[in-house]
Amino acid sequence: MIKMAGVMGYPISHSLSPRLHGYWIDKYDLDATYEPWAVKPEDLKETLKNLALDAPKKGGLFRGTNLTIPLKEAALPLVDILEASAKIIGAVNTVVVNEDGKLIGRNTDGIGFSDSLAEHTDIKKFEGGTALVLGAGGASKAVVYAILQMGFSRIYVTNRTQERAQELCTHIGDNAEVILWENRTKVLGEIDLLVNTTSLGMAEQPPLHMPLKGLKSNAVVTDIVYVPLETELLKEAKAAGNLTVDGLGMLLHQAKAGFEAWYGVKPQVDKNLRDFVLEGLKK
Ligand code: ATR
Repeated sequence: MIKMAGVMGYPISHSLSPRLHGYWIDKYDLDATYEPWAVKPEDLKETLKNLALDAPKKGGLFRGTNLTIPLKEAALPLVDILEASAKIIGAVNTVVVNEDGKLIGRNTDGIGFSDSLAEHTDIKKFEGGTALVLGAGGASKAVVYAILQMGFSRIYVTNRTQERAQELCTHIGDNAEVILWENRTKVLGEIDLLVNTTSLGMAEQPPLHMPLKGLKSNAVVTDIVYVPLETELLKEAKAAGNLTVDGLGMLLHQAKAGFEAWYGVKPQVDKNLRDFVLEGLKK
């Protein structure tokens, strides 16, 4: 029987997820679909309820869905079981229908971030280390969560709007400390990982001003922006001889857990997938 999943958001036409999951469905030759669904926040409750009625236990097709802007927070009270990842990050990006037709809400952005780093470097070395996170928006919560899971012992969070950084640290950052946006370059000599989670440096957004003087030579620099793939931050870090990880990996790796839960196959992130998704970005 066909297994059906998809991605809900509003608007949804720009989403790369159908291309990404479609690639895996073809690769693993599955009897499955992955659809883009345009759903407004006010319609999410009804849509999820109706789809849950079409669950496998009742002979239905619906296995679950990804959620994107503006639905990730709206889904928190709408699922039957909220996993710790979604509770802590404060957003649901993946919904899985279990055997009882119950909706499980989880967040795979954090694991997407750490798996993407792990593709390029041994993340065990970060245990006990120090990270600096630029930004305190939705994406930043998932990144800080992942950083804690990786065993960093200190996380500096800095954001233009300081209260948001403070809120984030209070909410999930056990070992997190807010530093002023103006002081963001002052801790470069201490950190093992630098992450940009702001929209700065993204195409059509203002540039990120982040001189890297003083950064340790073995520090890893990563950006969650992936348009352009090589941001100015990554360019500068590479020129300084630091290891860099671009933002596309997080998008690819966050998709694995949903795919496996819905379709029963553990998918691989590889260069072919990356190139295929990159082609979609050019369209
Ligand atoms: P998302 O949920 O996708 O992370 P967001 O919540 O809008 O998006 O967060 C965007 C991030 O980029 C925030 O950290 C934001 O800082 P503020 O909290 O001060 O808004 C940051 N950002 C956006 N434009 C910025 C700018 N011109 N200068 C500094 N930071 C900026």
